[in-house]
Amino acid sequence: MRMSVAEFAQCLRLDRHQALKATRKRSLYSLIAADELAPSLVAARQLLEGRAKCWDPTLLNQFKEPWAAALRKLYATPVAYPASLPPSQGLQLRNLVLDRNVRSCVEIGCFIGVSSLWIGSAIRENGDGYLRSVDLFEPKAPNRFHFSFLDDPYEAAAKAVRDAGLHGIIEFVRSESTTYAAQLDAAEPLDMVFIDGDHTFLGIARDFLAYFPLLRKGGVAVLHDIHPAYCGWTGPRKFLDRYLSACPNVRVTEIETQPNFGIAVVEKTGDELLPLSWPRLLCLQAEVAAAALARRATDSAPARMLRSNVVLPLKAFLRRSHK
Ligand SMILES: C[S@@+](CC[C@H](N)C(=O)[O-])C[C@H]1O[C@@H](n2cnc3c(N)ncnc32)[C@H](O)[C@@H]1O
Repeated sequence: MRMSVAEFAQCLRLDRHQALKATRKRSLYSLIAADELAPSLVAARQLLEGRAKCWDPTLLNQFKEPWAAALRKLYATPVAYPASLPPSQGLQLRNLVLDRNVRSCVEIGCFIGVSSLWIGSAIRENGDGYLRSVDLFEPKAPNRFHFSFLDDPYEAAAKAVRDAGLHGIIEFVRSESTTYAAQLDAAEPLDMVFIDGDHTFLGIARDFLAYFPLLRKGGVAVLHDIHPAYCGWTGPRKFLDRYLSACPNVRVTEIETQPNFGIAVVEKTGDELLPLSWPRLLCLQAEVAAAALARRATDSAPARMLRSNVVLPLKAFLRRSHK
């Protein structure tokens, strides 16, 4: 059975525009349209939710504070899997914040606030400080990674912070990440930015370039999901290998995690970055696309065309203009 966009929207409690966006994700549409989910739309939703898994929160038992209890509750909501940091990585992030005595932090992509509580709990232990967590806070419908629904991530995150007693430390900002960066004052530098929002190459590049000038020297940008084979995102890895590896004034440490989404800690050692003008960014992206095409396509012509018509002319332009 196939369903109309209006029916689909009703089922997911999305508006028509959001539903249209979601139906463009083929995996979601085919899942909803699958025969086993046909009997009724409500049954389909229940069935999807019934498939949800959860992270194992046992590791939190060592903590008795309210923030740990609030985290346990968040981990019990199916939508936390796998989008939110697993407990083992949350602990690694918390230890990083403690070790580096982080007091001022921006987090890009907090979803329902799991990583926010891990970071915020450590900032409070460090003394006075703040975490500003910026997110689009859009409703979540099932995709190829998870089967659960959430209408209002902002409300879930805000409630968790209240339960955790961390409302004096954590502030949520509903905004696009780079729009928010433009409002921040470089005169009040950040100790850390945790980047876990838009995981495409361009998304990571935009976030990194927007927030690097806001970091103090010795501060760190922390990238999540650096192992594409595990997390399915290629952006962070490509940004590390193609840009940061050639960049002055950064010291990169990769931390292995269990499960192996991976974390990279990028320490700022100076102000200048490898110039990344828009033509260079476009060039990098075209190279990434050409490499992906070459890997996937049986016919090498599209990759060759992309290289000769986009990558090489852009490189020639960059050489001529020294951008
Ligand atoms: C993987 S989830 C974050 C999980 C969270 N860090 C945790 O571990 O609990 C990614 C989040 O990034 C947000 N996001 C994606 N692109 C964004 C952007 N350009 N600006 C702000 N938030 C963004 C999404 O809305 C989503 O909630």
